[in-house]
Amino acid sequence: MQNLNLNYNFSVAPMMGVTTSSARYMYRLISSEAILFTEMIASQALYRGDHEKLLKKQSLESPVVLQVGGSNSDLLRYSTNLANQYSYQGINLNVGCPSKKVSQGKMGACLMKEASLVKECVSSMIKESSIDVSLKCRIGVDEFESYDFFKEFISTVAESGCKIIFVHARKAFLKGLDPKKNRTIPPLKYEFVHQIKQDYPDLKFIMNGGLNSIEECHTQLKYVDGVMVGRAIQANPFFLEKIDNEFYGKDLKTIDKIFIVKKYFNYIKNNVESVSTYELLSPLLALCFGVPGSKKFKQQVNDLIRARDIKSLENTYLNLLAA
Ligand SMILES: Cc1cc2nc3c(=O)[nH]c(=O)nc-3n(C[C@H](O)[C@H](O)[C@H](O)COP(=O)(O)O)c2cc1C
Repeated sequence: MQNLNLNYNFSVAPMMGVTTSSARYMYRLISSEAILFTEMIASQALYRGDHEKLLKKQSLESPVVLQVGGSNSDLLRYSTNLANQYSYQGINLNVGCPSKKVSQGKMGACLMKEASLVKECVSSMIKESSIDVSLKCRIGVDEFESYDFFKEFISTVAESGCKIIFVHARKAFLKGLDPKKNRTIPPLKYEFVHQIKQDYPDLKFIMNGGLNSIEECHTQLKYVDGVMVGRAIQANPFFLEKIDNEFYGKDLKTIDKIFIVKKYFNYIKNNVESVSTYELLSPLLALCFGVPGSKKFKQQVNDLIRARDIKSLENTYLNLLAA
């Protein structure tokens, strides 16, 4: 069984099109301790594609975990090696994505029906490197929705030596629900994750799904080893403001939002030639969460993003925060 290097009390969930290197840079300006995840990258793409482009990140982002998709042990071993080479602190295998395209590539949630294959994949990843190897799964898939099915899956996968499992506490419906509906329609069953922790106390289980406040996260920590939050941070990156204090025992710091916005605009200016405008600017849209009149503000921001007017955009944000 491997020894873990990172402290997984609080993680920001992997989100395709959201947790880009730029968004992670912004999140890291707000929390220095939360574990950050990349978007899922197919192991095939890492093997065949430009891995320099796919894996490039800012050193400030660490600790960051690379999430991969796949079911071929050789490709996953190769990906683990790359994760190590590009200084990722961990690698995570996605066994929870319900998208049709992902299933067709024999990746994601469909693999919950093939526990032995998942075990083989994770074993080969663990043998390859000393960085943390983890799994992210659901509690079931399609008609396989009983606790016994989930327990059997975990029992098989645990034989790989994997010590940490992130669980999105709802099952995935591969037939008939798109990924978005698969994040809301199947009911959350936190009790499955609480029970699995009791049944396998030596493994670390991280609760994911529907956690929208610091209080809800603390409640889950009574039963499991850590929490992972996705959409609540996508909607409002300042959710991360108190994480270092609440989940890592660091001194409470007041976050200077103006400082963060200025630092992020510096990052934009330094990367405008090499990173897409969409990636650079989309994390900004969430920064006006909860601000009075934010609908009008968002429209103004959208117009400036379309015009790629970065100077006015910066002034608009700074004026808003100053007000
Ligand atoms: C836009 C978006 C993209 C996502 N992409 C991924 C992904 O690449 N890999 C993954 O394991 N989960 C992905 N997820 C699922 C999240 O990691 C998480 O499991 C899910 O949103 C439930 O957590 P939440 O309720 O805190 O958002 C994605 C979710 C969203 C909203």
